[in-house]
Amino acid sequence: MRNVLSWDDYQEDVGVVGGLAAEKSAATAREEPREARVEPAPQPQPIAEPTPEPEPPAPTVIAEAAPEVAVQAVEPESRDRVTVDQKAMINCRADLNQLVPFKYAWAWQKYLDACANHWMPQEINMNADIMLWKSENGLTEDERLIVKRSLGFFSTADSLVANNLVLAIYRLITNPECRQYILRQAFEEAIHTHAYQYCIESLGMDEGEIFNMYHEVDSVADKASWALKYTQELSDPTFRTGTPEDDKTLLKNLIAYYCVLEGIFFYCGFTQILSMGRRNKMTGTSEQFQYILRDESMHVNFGIDVVNQIKLENPHLWDEGMQELAKQMILEGTDLEIRYAQDTMPRGVLGMNANMMADYLRFIANRRLVQIGLDEHFPGVKNPFPWMSEVMDLKKEKNFFETRVTEYQTGGTLSWG
Ligand SMILES: [Fe+2]
Ligand SMILES: [Fe+2]
Repeated sequence: MRNVLSWDDYQEDVGVVGGLAAEKSAATAREEPREARVEPAPQPQPIAEPTPEPEPPAPTVIAEAAPEVAVQAVEPESRDRVTVDQKAMINCRADLNQLVPFKYAWAWQKYLDACANHWMPQEINMNADIMLWKSENGLTEDERLIVKRSLGFFSTADSLVANNLVLAIYRLITNPECRQYILRQAFEEAIHTHAYQYCIESLGMDEGEIFNMYHEVDSVADKASWALKYTQELSDPTFRTGTPEDDKTLLKNLIAYYCVLEGIFFYCGFTQILSMGRRNKMTGTSEQFQYILRDESMHVNFGIDVVNQIKLENPHLWDEGMQELAKQMILEGTDLEIRYAQDTMPRGVLGMNANMMADYLRFIANRRLVQIGLDEHFPGVKNPFPWMSEVMDLKKEKNFFETRVTEYQTGGTLSWG
């Protein structure tokens, strides 16, 4: 077994459960006296019977130990109406409970677009996949390896992303319209994990084998543990931004997750499964992946906008050292993904091979570098899979295989009876 973090290690190390409980207790403890203060309830008191002053709640051990940052994230500093120029991506002290006026219209638009793309895994017919997977000669061993590895990596990776969002990033991004998108993204990650589970269950796979791949198979484990260390840096509930060093730690996490994990680590597996679908194999699984890829490309775009906005508002963070670090992270991620390609494609399969995939990943890495304002590292590299771009531009009216109309029927299935 690989020496990487399991969920249990992860929770013990960072004290996530205790941390959240402490945050909640601290928020409650501080909330009560504030409400008593701001709502004095001017009631007539004809009888001279003084109302006893409300006792401040006795601080518990947990509340005393709780970090200030928990309050910083939920309690406004003043009761004033928020103006646009008070809003900021990080270290904002204005009331985060007031969604409007918007400062970042793009974040709100992405939230609306993401909701318009809503889908659920059970809507996709898996019958052809089940038949093919269970037939003896339906798929080659190399094709089976790709399906297993993809489900093994992604079934855990989307949980890593979701946990990073809610345990690390959410409280540190101090802008309500961005938080609104992050909440939507977190739900989409739950849908993605659901989709992988739906495939695994439909195909009757060994769930233990698939869900443990992220610490039992090197090429999968290396990617998972690379990402987990960036969650660990931030998920300590005492962590707060506000110094250049800590702000850079947050920026690192955003680059690790949005540019590398979601922006590079997903691309080999996605390309392989979608290539399978293009050859009329595992079409249900492939359709699930198409919808996931459409969501993921929006996640990446949102994250890159956030990174660039933080750079714009805090140019001192984007110094030479940080630029070099960002570049190294993207190149490290590209190397790990190329190794994953080599592991999952020991021979040519589905009209592709590990060398072609390496070129594709270098092409993607160039894009990620340029998107955050850095130079391309692999000049002249071409995209060997231009059809992937078409898949990402998938319109919601019709899916790639034209098997079903995917306009989501909100409310169409409600029954009050
Ligand atoms: Fe996802
Ligand atoms: Fe995502």
